[in-house]
Amino acid sequence: MTETFDVKLDEKHYMPDQRFRETAWTPDYASAYREFLADPEGFWEMLARELDWFEPWDRVREWTPPYARWFTNAKLNITRNCLDRHLTDGCRDKPAIVWRGDAGESRTLTYQQLYEDVTRFANGLAALGVGKGDRVCIYMPLVPEQIVAMLACARIGAVHSVVFGGFGAGALRMRINDAGAKAIITADVGYRRGKIIPLKEIVDEALADAPSVETVIVLNRSGSATPPAGRGVDFAKLLEQSAPGCPAEVMDAEDPLFILYTSGSTGAPKGIVHTCGGYMVGTYYTTKHVFDVKDNDIFWCTADPGWITGHSYVVYGPLATGTTVVITEGTPDYPDPGAFWKLVQDLGVSIFYTAPTAIRMFMKHGEEWPQKYNLSSLRVLGSVGEPLNPEAFEWYYQVIGGSRCPIVDTWWQTETGMHMITTMIGDPMKPGFAGKPVPGVVADVVDREGNPVPPGTGGFLVIKEPWPSMMRTVHGNDERYCTYWNTIPGCYTAGDLAVKDENGYIMVLGRADDLIVVAGHNIGTAEVESALVSHEAVAEAAVIGKPDPLKGNAIKAFVTLCTGCSQSDELTAALAKHVREELGPVAVPSEIEYADRLPKTRSGKIMRRVLKARELGVDPGDISTLEE
Ligand code: WT7
Repeated sequence: MTETFDVKLDEKHYMPDQRFRETAWTPDYASAYREFLADPEGFWEMLARELDWFEPWDRVREWTPPYARWFTNAKLNITRNCLDRHLTDGCRDKPAIVWRGDAGESRTLTYQQLYEDVTRFANGLAALGVGKGDRVCIYMPLVPEQIVAMLACARIGAVHSVVFGGFGAGALRMRINDAGAKAIITADVGYRRGKIIPLKEIVDEALADAPSVETVIVLNRSGSATPPAGRGVDFAKLLEQSAPGCPAEVMDAEDPLFILYTSGSTGAPKGIVHTCGGYMVGTYYTTKHVFDVKDNDIFWCTADPGWITGHSYVVYGPLATGTTVVITEGTPDYPDPGAFWKLVQDLGVSIFYTAPTAIRMFMKHGEEWPQKYNLSSLRVLGSVGEPLNPEAFEWYYQVIGGSRCPIVDTWWQTETGMHMITTMIGDPMKPGFAGKPVPGVVADVVDREGNPVPPGTGGFLVIKEPWPSMMRTVHGNDERYCTYWNTIPGCYTAGDLAVKDENGYIMVLGRADDLIVVAGHNIGTAEVESALVSHEAVAEAAVIGKPDPLKGNAIKAFVTLCTGCSQSDELTAALAKHVREELGPVAVPSEIEYADRLPKTRSGKIMRRVLKARELGVDPGDISTLEE
């Protein structure tokens, strides 16, 4: 593979209303970034001072590559910042969590109520013998108790490992055993699109071979669960029996806060380890500044807390800012494709954060659904997880945001813990480009040797300085951690390909392993997919490389069509022509196959490797993350 390749840059951009800039927490990107560069430690120290610590740090940062320590010797508990700090007259009765269940049930917990539930449950866990450093697996539906369980672990210094409730028994067992979990917190069932998910049965199957687990705490979600036997404990009883007010465990800044297994769209899952101090500062800062959170905001990140997006931007970051967090067990197109927009209207959501895969799904169903609802409460829109192709950006901006709301396309990873690249509120937005490194982050696009590549030339996306919320290791496999830092000299290699424009805006092209070399040209799957999706008939596209005797690789595309469009030879020809016009002849797929749906990870990423394996008739490898 050659290191670099040329990419066409589109100059189109949108200028948000300048009133955003006047009131933003980061009103002037350039000066904030200069301030950071002039004194990186001072920059982070100022942010850390906004939070509550038991004891201050000796040093802000210690960097002995590839290991970083942040806020050395400081003592804290993140839950004091997410809960206790908000128990003031003005905030105690403010809703912390507003929940909607799959069948329309609803519940609201104020900061005071959340504090009481968390501290009760923390006392309950402690009474069961769970303590500082013990690993606790949380495998739950998206109910407030899931967040209560996470925060209760953090309260007593237990390390949580949340496993998304959509995973099966094999994936769950692997994660329990890798972490050596002492307890598991689950529910009898979850609900999804009106269907029952038998979580407890899946847990029992996983526990058949999980010797480390001593206690199983079960939330009786259905109201008709059989009472837990053996090592089982009833969630509600435990809560009831325990007194509120558990003192927060004094944690060192570098003590682990949680382990989270990466979505593993490539290879076997890794247990990413995040620590207390740096993670708290990084997620607090980015929640506040990137989404520009203000006192009266209603904040809705549609991710499940089972993903890093949920850890950082449903739970820890938003609660640290004291905002009102909306969560729902519901899915965006159930009972109909207006479900999310109804919720935005009913709850007055002002900050809305979702994934491109959801946006493309909404596009597919048409604008009539969002148009049924009043979306005027929206102020800021966010995207995460995959490149937000220009087509989807435009739709999101115009149809959902009413050409009024800035869009923050946030690039980051499970490993980074917090947003790394985006366009700060008030700055010009370029569709297709995530933007620039947030103040506090040094990112660049480089060749294999670590030399920056010129604008318009693709290369590897890297981070050049440590940041507070960076992963500290891979649980039980530090060697794997080191490969992030020793692939390209002096850099953290994200594994993504990207390109910069003359202004330093970064476009993320996709994973480096999704690059296809056709007749000596490097082509990113994301580019071809974006070109296909910009055709009016195409809802979603996935592109793979297929060995070709002549060209080395040929491009094969899988497309799903918008409602009302049907496949035909004319359409195939039109799509090929369209890609030719957009990207040039070298990028035209030699084969286009129509599909009803594409294989995706449970977090919504297209699994090209599964398509490729199927195409080549080989074993796809680990597919535990594949949605049904
Ligand atoms: C990978 C990380 C961290 C949030 C959820 C996914 C891709 C993430 C963007 C974006 C283009 C993006 C990258 C990255 N990605 N955000 N805004 N634009 N690509 O976390 O499962 O750890 O995946 O998601 O390829 O490396 P994750």
